[in-house]
Amino acid sequence: MQNATPNPNPLENLEEWEDFLKERYPEGSQPTEDKPAFQATDPNKKESEFRNYELDARPTVREFYRLNHQFQSYDFGQAKRADFLKLERKKMTVWQAMEFLNTLVDESDPDTDLSQLQHLLQTAEHIRRDGHPRWFILTGLIHDLGKILCLFGEPQWAVVGDTFPVGCAFSNKIVFPKFFEANPDSQNPRFQTPLGIYEEGCGLDKVNLSWGHDEYLYQVVKDRLPAEGLAMIRYHSCYPVHREGEYDLFLTDEDRRLMEWVRKFNPYDLYTKSHEKPDVEKLRPFYEDLINEFLPGELRW
Ligand SMILES: [Fe+2]
Ligand SMILES: [Fe+2]
Repeated sequence: MQNATPNPNPLENLEEWEDFLKERYPEGSQPTEDKPAFQATDPNKKESEFRNYELDARPTVREFYRLNHQFQSYDFGQAKRADFLKLERKKMTVWQAMEFLNTLVDESDPDTDLSQLQHLLQTAEHIRRDGHPRWFILTGLIHDLGKILCLFGEPQWAVVGDTFPVGCAFSNKIVFPKFFEANPDSQNPRFQTPLGIYEEGCGLDKVNLSWGHDEYLYQVVKDRLPAEGLAMIRYHSCYPVHREGEYDLFLTDEDRRLMEWVRKFNPYDLYTKSHEKPDVEKLRPFYEDLINEFLPGELRW
């Protein structure tokens, strides 16, 4: 796989990364408020299990993480923020963005896989069925819209993948930590202490995470949903923080409270995919109403 010009998109589709997450964090293993996963298991046992996921990972997934860890440096994230967060690429309503994302089709197996729109609707419908507030349902509906970055020509490793803080030492609880050896930040002593360029207790908001669909969508919708929903959007891929309990030294008490909500959201993201396809046209009026309540009109993307 390590040829001179590696394929920037080694995954057959984005779901390969999510399927890998499900193997690593199977249903039922998700932490609860009184039993966070990072406190629930013996750390030594966890380490060995962790390694097995790496060994069992498909070569495509492994290569995806190799590229992600090599290229997601502090400077890379800053450059992408400066470019994409001008939000000058498109003006679209939320529903239009859902339809746009849906043009990202899985060519390898279009009949059996769910479309992006169906993943969003399944996530939202499960949240709705469990009686959660309307903003929570809407959060489920839109949480992956940032994946339209792929349609702007961004490689998979710059759109999806577990996110992690940059500008400070990489946690060895991040999957495939050895791939960080090729990241230029590993050679920068300023970035290789536990605090790096940040201050203790500064708040997760001040910490730059690796760039991807979470941060992009957060910036598109920020200030327009409750803080809990915004945290779900911004941190749902940040498994090192919300699942592994790493980087706690940056968190405020408010961050820790919000992480409980991110953990509450996670099962809806990971475990609600089923082959039962939602009836898009039947559901559309309910969701158009919901969108109009919080995010009416065109948004800048
Ligand atoms: Fe996501
Ligand atoms: Fe998702």
